[in-house]
Amino acid sequence: MKKIAIVPGDGIGIEVTREAVAVLETLRKRRHLLIELVPFDWGAERWLRDRVGLPAGALDELRSDFAAVLFGAVGDPRVPDMAHGREILLGMRFQLDLFVNLRPVRLLNDRLCPLKGRTGSDVDMVILRENTEGVYADMGGIFKKDTPDEIAINEDINTRKGVERIIRAAFELARKRDGKKRVCMSDKANAMRFAHDLWQRTFREVAREYADIEASHLYVDVMAMEMVRNPARFDVVVTNNLFGDILSDLGAGLAGGLGVAASGNINPGQCSLFEPVHGSAPDIAGKGVANPMGSILSAALLLDHIGFHSEAQLVEKAVEKAVAEHMTTRDLGGTHSTEEVGKFIRGLVDEAARG
Ligand SMILES: NC(=O)c1ccc[n+]([C@@H]2O[C@H](COP(=O)([O-])OP(=O)(O)OC[C@H]3O[C@@H](n4cnc5c(N)ncnc54)[C@H](O)[C@@H]3O)[C@@H](O)[C@H]2O)c1
Repeated sequence: MKKIAIVPGDGIGIEVTREAVAVLETLRKRRHLLIELVPFDWGAERWLRDRVGLPAGALDELRSDFAAVLFGAVGDPRVPDMAHGREILLGMRFQLDLFVNLRPVRLLNDRLCPLKGRTGSDVDMVILRENTEGVYADMGGIFKKDTPDEIAINEDINTRKGVERIIRAAFELARKRDGKKRVCMSDKANAMRFAHDLWQRTFREVAREYADIEASHLYVDVMAMEMVRNPARFDVVVTNNLFGDILSDLGAGLAGGLGVAASGNINPGQCSLFEPVHGSAPDIAGKGVANPMGSILSAALLLDHIGFHSEAQLVEKAVEKAVAEHMTTRDLGGTHSTEEVGKFIRGLVDEAARG
């Protein structure tokens, strides 16, 4: 039995996770999947009530008993410093050592692409962002605060181990993917001479072990331009935490926007976390208009990660069909509610799973 922790979090995280869970439940019943979905109430509500983000022992429990986490989103205007979000989400990312941030950039339907004349075969790549180091490692400080001489520092942490494992993960992924089998590493070694020299050397060394994969490099500024100019040239893109954060949002923009963007925070072979890219969207929370597709596609990534590959594909196909049939929320030009879109998708999943 594979246990999956369900952490809806806050705002629309709760609304979209409900739909993704319903899809997983449908598959569990139809395909007799040996999965158990275990809900957790970690989020702003509990934080405000008990001042607890991640309860004591939660990380150990996830590590030892759970195959994966399906996460919604955190963020609540009543917790303006996001203290609970940092404890919950960053707690899991760092303590479970989820070093691969996997962001597929795949066009579900040609009409969703903002680039003129581009189709699904042009926009189909995966961005692997290093998820535990870089400038997001939260090392640094402020000196002489609120004076004209103030100095603020965020250190950029790049370890040989951290750089090598994400680059290796990119080559392993390229090997598994159909088609292009390319890895492009992006950095800014011309300006960041020390940290990104490490990326360059490590990339060259690891690439030698994967002669079957085409390895290339682009500075991040050129990379951003090329993703817009000619996205078809990319298959797997690997980069550091900061550049990956930015490039993957550019990718989400190429593939239909935040509402359909899914992600995995992965430690291969260990309990990993899957979540839509968007946040808790307080502006639309409670209105029933949030697009559940990012969450449902994240559930598909989760299924793939825990070994249910055909079920994952079935979910992706159902979401594609929903987009093709204009069964969408308003962010994709539709008129349907979160619940209606979710119901439609799980109906398709149910039908396909029976067949
Ligand atoms: N991983 C996370 O939990 C995560 C990620 C990003 C932001 N946040 C938090 O979420 C809160 C809101 O942040 P934000 O407004 O910058 O980002 P956001 O992603 O929540 O929303 C950005 C915009 O996109 C829209 N949007 C987002 N998801 C959508 C969906 N599924 N369907 C339709 N429209 C959607 C929102 O209505 C909003 O206009 C903040 O507290 C932020 O810190 C959390």
